[in-house]
Amino acid sequence: MNVVTTVIKSRHSIRKFKTDPIPDPVIADVIECARHAPTAMNVQPWLFGVVKDKAMLKKIADLTDHGKHIADAAVCFAIFGEKKAKYYLEDCCAATENIILALQAYGIGSCWVAGEKKEYAEPVRKLLDVPDGYALVSLVPAGNPVDIEFAQKKDLKKVLFREKFKAE
Ligand SMILES: Cc1cc2nc3c(=O)[nH]c(=O)nc-3n(C[C@H](O)[C@H](O)[C@H](O)COP(=O)(O)O)c2cc1C
Repeated sequence: MNVVTTVIKSRHSIRKFKTDPIPDPVIADVIECARHAPTAMNVQPWLFGVVKDKAMLKKIADLTDHGKHIADAAVCFAIFGEKKAKYYLEDCCAATENIILALQAYGIGSCWVAGEKKEYAEPVRKLLDVPDGYALVSLVPAGNPVDIEFAQKKDLKKVLFREKFKAE
């Protein structure tokens, strides 16, 4: 059994959180994992926000359409990309996934909440006083899970091809 693949396969989006806080050393390690994500030409074009303040969590949640659960999170990570970097979106998505998987490795639930393509991207950036050279890429509310929803995954046969694609 491989620890990393077990963590990856045991992850599910969590949208209901317990009220207990996430320890600061855990948050620090999660951010370290974000920082270790690969980036095109190693430019690391990002800023990572850590929001724990309840009033601020509620404000962010209220700005979103499908991120209302942010209000009940113990912490919300906000991932911003430097727009002048060509691959900021890919880079920040890699960092976002690292955050989610690091949280899962600590038994902490989280859920990727869309950012970059949403109308609330700019309002969230302004709310957090992030400079305008950056764009919100994603939000990751996190906390100890109340319950787990199991999302159906597509059948392997429908998504895998070997060597060359062949229509069935
Ligand atoms: C780019 C992206 C944006 C997402 N945005 C939202 C969102 O705004 N709100 C939400 O509740 N979940 C969001 N999700 C989570 C997906 O709904 C979830 O990953 C999907 O339903 C599969 O479930 P699973 O994560 O448990 O495997 C997003 C996921 C990704 C990758």
